[in-house]
Amino acid sequence: MMNKLIARTLPYFPKKFVWVFSRKYIAGETIDEAILACRQLNDNGMLVTVDLLGEFITNLDQAKNNKEEYLTIIERFESENIKGNYSLKPTSFGLLIDKEVCYQYVREIVARAAASNNFVRIDMEDSKCVDLEIEMFRQLKAEFPAHVGLVFQAYLKRTLDDLKALMDIHSEEQPTNYRLCKGIYVEPKEIAYKDYDEVNACYLEDLEYLLKNKVYVGIATHDRKLVEGAIKIITENNIPNEQFEFQMLYGVTPELRKEILNKGYKMRIYVPYGKDWFGYSTRRLKENPKMATHIIKSLFIKG
Ligand code: FDA
Repeated sequence: MMNKLIARTLPYFPKKFVWVFSRKYIAGETIDEAILACRQLNDNGMLVTVDLLGEFITNLDQAKNNKEEYLTIIERFESENIKGNYSLKPTSFGLLIDKEVCYQYVREIVARAAASNNFVRIDMEDSKCVDLEIEMFRQLKAEFPAHVGLVFQAYLKRTLDDLKALMDIHSEEQPTNYRLCKGIYVEPKEIAYKDYDEVNACYLEDLEYLLKNKVYVGIATHDRKLVEGAIKIITENNIPNEQFEFQMLYGVTPELRKEILNKGYKMRIYVPYGKDWFGYSTRRLKENPKMATHIIKSLFIKG
């Protein structure tokens, strides 16, 4: 109840107040702040993937601005030798307004990253975007086989079938590269599992399928049970360290992150930044009122 109440009312609080909790999870508003955060993570042995906030835009001018900003990000990150790659949400480039324009913008970004031998991850958004984002990935993968990847959400009932269907573009020479996460959007129960144990079981089933088929996986979770389950699959199947990495969101579960690093595994941190941090924070909260618990903790419990 309390979580839902906070989630509903927080958008009406002063921005400064919301920033008190958001700053833990967002690198800042500017590229300079994002670079600073990423450099600190690099210095502590972690890779990064940087994300410009600004999903679900309302016109194509915003899409063009977002594309320009990504090109600037890549320019800056490459020239400053940040160890990391790029994540983007196709709706930030107009996926639901004009999918052709969106494709051309995302293609331009992938081409720029590929020119520096780097990589762009297409985040997976809500269920009305899934087919469109898979189609976009297929097209881009044909042109930039080593420079683009996609995200899959274990809570969707369709995911294992999608992964199997995409094996036609996977090979040992040009392996596909996916991030596997639980999924963050509120989806109808007809298409998505809701139960914690059910989602976790699907996550591990998807992960085992991918790793056994030599797909590169970004194991994106802060759930200790899933981390332990993943390590068990990796150990039992002798999966080489070159075939996976762990991924976490900026500011979340730093203790677990450290434990994973201490075991010698690769860790990549997802670093969101940008002027749209307020919209991003309040949207995330509406999607997942359970996050309110973390907000209360970060407001009232020091450290
Ligand atoms: P779970 O939700 O069970 O959380 C486990 C524990 O982690 C919690 O008990 C809590 O302690 C902590 N925790 C989790 N989230 C937290 C938060 N936001 N703040 C503070 N503590 C938190 N989703 C999606 O639909 N599309 C995508 O493209 C991506 N991309 C993505 C990238 C990366 C690197 C990560 C880590 C996650 C995503 N996600 C995502 C989000 C993902 O789907 C999922 O919603 C969150 O990671 C939470 O799920 P967990 O697996 O962490 O477990």
